Amino acid sequence: MTFEQAKQVLEKNDQGHVLRFWDVLDAGERAQLLDQVAGLDFASIARMRGMLTSKSAAAAAAEPTAPEVVELTDDARAAAYAAGEAELHAGKVAVLLVAGGQGSRLGYEGPKGAYSIGPVTGRPLFYFHARKIVGLCRRYGVRIPFYIMTSDVNDAATRTHFEDHNYFGLDRNDVTFFMQGMWPALDEKGRIMLDQPGHIFMSPDGHGGTLTALDKDGCLADMERRGINTVFYFQVDNPLVEIADPAFIGLHVVRRADISVKLCAKRDPKEGLGVVVEREGRCEMVEYTELTDEQANRRTAAGELYFKYGSVAIHVFSLPFLKTEAGKAMPLHLAHKKIPVCSENGTAVQPTKNNGYKFEKFIFDVLPDARAVVNLAFERAEEFSPVKNAAGSDSPATCKHDMQAKWLRWFKAAGIQMPVTAAGAPVFPMEIDPAYALDVTDLKKKGISLKAE
Ligand code: UD1
Repeated sequence: MTFEQAKQVLEKNDQGHVLRFWDVLDAGERAQLLDQVAGLDFASIARMRGMLTSKSAAAAAAEPTAPEVVELTDDARAAAYAAGEAELHAGKVAVLLVAGGQGSRLGYEGPKGAYSIGPVTGRPLFYFHARKIVGLCRRYGVRIPFYIMTSDVNDAATRTHFEDHNYFGLDRNDVTFFMQGMWPALDEKGRIMLDQPGHIFMSPDGHGGTLTALDKDGCLADMERRGINTVFYFQVDNPLVEIADPAFIGLHVVRRADISVKLCAKRDPKEGLGVVVEREGRCEMVEYTELTDEQANRRTAAGELYFKYGSVAIHVFSLPFLKTEAGKAMPLHLAHKKIPVCSENGTAVQPTKNNGYKFEKFIFDVLPDARAVVNLAFERAEEFSPVKNAAGSDSPATCKHDMQAKWLRWFKAAGIQMPVTAAGAPVFPMEIDPAYALDVTDLKKKGISLKAE
């Protein structure tokens, strides 16, 4: 893109100020800025500006109700499990991990997946995810393609991390990294913000960016070539996730769902989990920040929370549905934030109060487009213990505790009584490589016993 072309397109979109430092930029800075302008998605920027000017214009939506949630009986679980195993054996399942976010709440600089979590070995979150896929490939005798979404802020570091760890035993030909999009932030007047005279401040477009990025990078076509039908989706921060859980996959396939969503009972009314609701016959997710106090605290006659279940961002998608959705514009969510800017004389300014808006797309906004949705309830202790905060709830400490508590239950079911403290925690730190045992059944097959020496 030339300067003239950039000027023309920016002025047409009322963003001419982006070039205001042009005269003082060196050749490298000029090239960088032109590159950024060439990559801007002005259609989305126009939608963002529209949101800023018409914040109060949203039509009053119908009151949401609680959706149907499946709680599997033992028989139903066994049937769903068998259907899921058939899908896995047939090589029709792919795994998709979103890992483009920043671990800002955790205060961790690198890719969140590189964060050390193994209670004994200190192995990273990525290890526990990848080793489960290694275990699944062995168990079902198939290749399971693994797609990992990164972003500009962590792509290179994520790839290097996998290289350095020899892909944790995965076949590197089955691991695909793809990058989500980035877009600018807008100030209160809807103007693109510069953080340096020759640089536009950019941030990731949210995990809803998965759809366009999957399509743009050829991942959807790759899935099709590999004969994939069902895509298991999860977030990087939860090492307890049961990747490609056969019962979940099976229920999704049998019910011919477009999306399936795993839900667990919320710890308390205000827990930071999105809530699936039904509105006018369609499912949708209400993010925890958007649930009103009345909705969060509403109770049934029996005293249970009315919106009892929270989403833990574990989904299954059918590939045809992902392909249809990839071509659609998704809703945008805005957040008022402190955005680093440069002043009129070109010096960097770290704002002390919110000065602009970041925009994100959320993957779960495809829910209302789905013909059929399965909401499946699961036992939280078995599958969900995210690492979100540096301390307190959902922290590395609680996560390590929950990982070990799960393994302790496996050992107990396998007839091995591990030494525990009065509080029920293991006396010695423990860790199981998921490729060694994916579940309690695998552990039992190993026929191990505990010898007192
Ligand atoms: C998220 C969900 C929430 C859910 C909870 C369960 C959103 C908006 N909310 O909340 O409904 O109940 O997890 O743990 O997601 N990511 C990207 N690119 C981005 C932004 C995020 O790949 O641009 C990835 C992150 O790497 C992470 C995941 O998405 O794996 C979740 O992001 P995070 O910001 O941690 O979401 P939460 O607020 O915890």
